Amino acid sequence: MNDIIVSPSILAGDFANMEKSVRALGDWGADYVHCDVMDGVYVKNLTFGMPMIAAIKKISPLPLDVHLMITEPERYVAEFVRCGADIVTFHPDASKRPAETLDEIRALGAKAGIVINPNVSFDEYKHLLVKCDVLLVMSVYAGLGGQKFIPETLDTVRAAVKYIKENALDVIIEIDGGVGESNAAIVREAGVRMIVAGSAVYKSDDPARTVRVLRGER
Ligand code: DX5
Ligand code: ZN
Repeated sequence: MNDIIVSPSILAGDFANMEKSVRALGDWGADYVHCDVMDGVYVKNLTFGMPMIAAIKKISPLPLDVHLMITEPERYVAEFVRCGADIVTFHPDASKRPAETLDEIRALGAKAGIVINPNVSFDEYKHLLVKCDVLLVMSVYAGLGGQKFIPETLDTVRAAVKYIKENALDVIIEIDGGVGESNAAIVREAGVRMIVAGSAVYKSDDPARTVRVLRGER
């Protein structure tokens, strides 16, 4: 299966009209709703938590891809799955027991993954991929939408592609931050299967076209 999965981030949506921002993603042909949960501790910003995920779940035409930028994610993952997260990813450097946390997410029936920030070593955490469905490679520093893509992060994608292949793992690589129509092709060529895009989709003059371009369709 070579299809590209597109997961627009509602961080770039309209917070005063979240239902409209979420429903639009279905109309635009996206595959997932990417939800950025920030705690003001692991990252500077604060966004939203479980009640928002539960509310979005009720009205979303698409499954939810929940990206936790929070300290000690192990304290909250079960609740996020209960609120409707279909994928839960977290930063292993923020966790005291990342392996157990991945197991817990999967045992609850959701897909699990770790997130690698640009300053975090993939080598240090690659042993966890055996417990992952998704590896999220940050192409900006987690914490803010609308940042500029860091091309060097594609080295992590390439290292991960190699590791996944060598170990015959079933993990898809997701990328997040500064991805849009102009750089989606290099991202896909590096081996990314799942593309997060906030501003590129919500600020597009034709979001449905942007989703198609991200996917590599015309
Ligand atoms: C950054 C978030 C991203 C962000 C992406 O911390 O994890 O998901 O919303 O936004 P863009 O695509 O605008 O860089
Ligand atoms: Zn994100």
